[in-house]
Amino acid sequence: MENGQGPMSKSERSRVFRYGGDFADQRIVRAEGAYIYDSDGRKILDFTSGQMSGILGHGHPEIVAVVQEMVAKLDHLHSGFLSDPVIAFADALAEMLPEGLDRVLPLSTGGESNEAALRIAKTFTGGFEVVAFDRSWHGVTGGAAAATYSGGRRGHGPTLPGVLTLPTPHAYRSPFNRDGVYDWRSEFEFGWEIIDRQSTGQLAAVIVEPILSSGGIVELPDGYLTALQEKARERGMLLILDEAQTGMGRTGDNFAFQREGVVPDILTLSKTLGAGLPLSATITSAAIEEDCHDKGFLFYTTHAADPLPAAVGSKVVEIVVRDQLAERARDLGDYLLSQLRDLQQRHPIIGDVRGRGLLLGVELVADRRTKTPALEVGMAVGQRCLELGACLNIGRRSMSGVFRIAPPLIVTRDEIDLAIAIFDQALGECVTS
Ligand SMILES: Cc1ncc(COP(=O)(O)O)c(C=O)c1O
Repeated sequence: MENGQGPMSKSERSRVFRYGGDFADQRIVRAEGAYIYDSDGRKILDFTSGQMSGILGHGHPEIVAVVQEMVAKLDHLHSGFLSDPVIAFADALAEMLPEGLDRVLPLSTGGESNEAALRIAKTFTGGFEVVAFDRSWHGVTGGAAAATYSGGRRGHGPTLPGVLTLPTPHAYRSPFNRDGVYDWRSEFEFGWEIIDRQSTGQLAAVIVEPILSSGGIVELPDGYLTALQEKARERGMLLILDEAQTGMGRTGDNFAFQREGVVPDILTLSKTLGAGLPLSATITSAAIEEDCHDKGFLFYTTHAADPLPAAVGSKVVEIVVRDQLAERARDLGDYLLSQLRDLQQRHPIIGDVRGRGLLLGVELVADRRTKTPALEVGMAVGQRCLELGACLNIGRRSMSGVFRIAPPLIVTRDEIDLAIAIFDQALGECVTS
């Protein structure tokens, strides 16, 4: 089919169900490296890595080669078959991960990987209650959506019973931050006291992102994961870490949990695992897998253990390790962070800059004292950035007014400089007008 010309017309757009607000006007026809291209040939820097997934940029030649080979040779199978690419993928992941994370369930999406994790935890513990952060995002499917609090909760009836919230340790916004001193431990203890009061005594799991992304790029304080694991163990719960966005080098370590050395009972990977292609995995220990299997565990999906995406996953692992992309994310992330902090000095609308590696957040506020989110201005800034040639994403779904800055890990310093110049110009134009 020929590409249309110019922006998407209203009638063209009206063909597609609006699954998350309105669509952008741009007609994107091509993508390569850190750029996407519209039908007028304009280059736009992709600083959201597509939907926070494409860590290798677009059209990475080695990924292209794997897809071309596999689609012709061994694409999709009955889910009862295993194939060599799937075994190689499970081996590659287990080798990259610490002991205790060595049984891999290959799936397609992040929501699915979390559904599987929650089902595993419930099967293993015999409980059903799940604890999640009050700014979380784990997906839009039943169990994952019930444990998602940063958006999408209203308008479609009850969610699963038994999901309890823990306050997100949000240093910038927490009421436990008084005069710049954040007492996260008191907030944490307070949160667990409330959970224990609400629980019916059948706690199964706590599920968290090591850095909350959709919730506004919120890093957990040092020591938090250790404390969380302790609370989970005391109550016989499993700790599930959702590294959809933080896994595969993005935050400066291969996995964000490595920073504190807390090995979860279950790890879920998606988005970055397929570097833009639909691939996810739920990973746990042999003991948990064997117990679940003995109890008749079932999570049978059409694309479980498909060879084509598995081969892509192995190649992503290989490239991330071989090209030391975690180190690259750390170095370039430090540079990008310093550039964003510099912008903060010059633009009072920037209330906070935070994050780790190449997963950074810039929070816009109407007033630095009251910290009122400046969402409307943020949307205008985001729109202007797009016109000027950079896709920088403002957290629309969660109404947070936080730009999530997450370029592919192959981004260059020059591309970072260009994005910063565009952001600077857009902030200057939109805030004064
Ligand atoms: C941390 C996290 N987990 C899970 C998901 C859901 O993934 P998917 O949209 O592939 O189902 C997302 C999506 O934004 C996410 O950010």
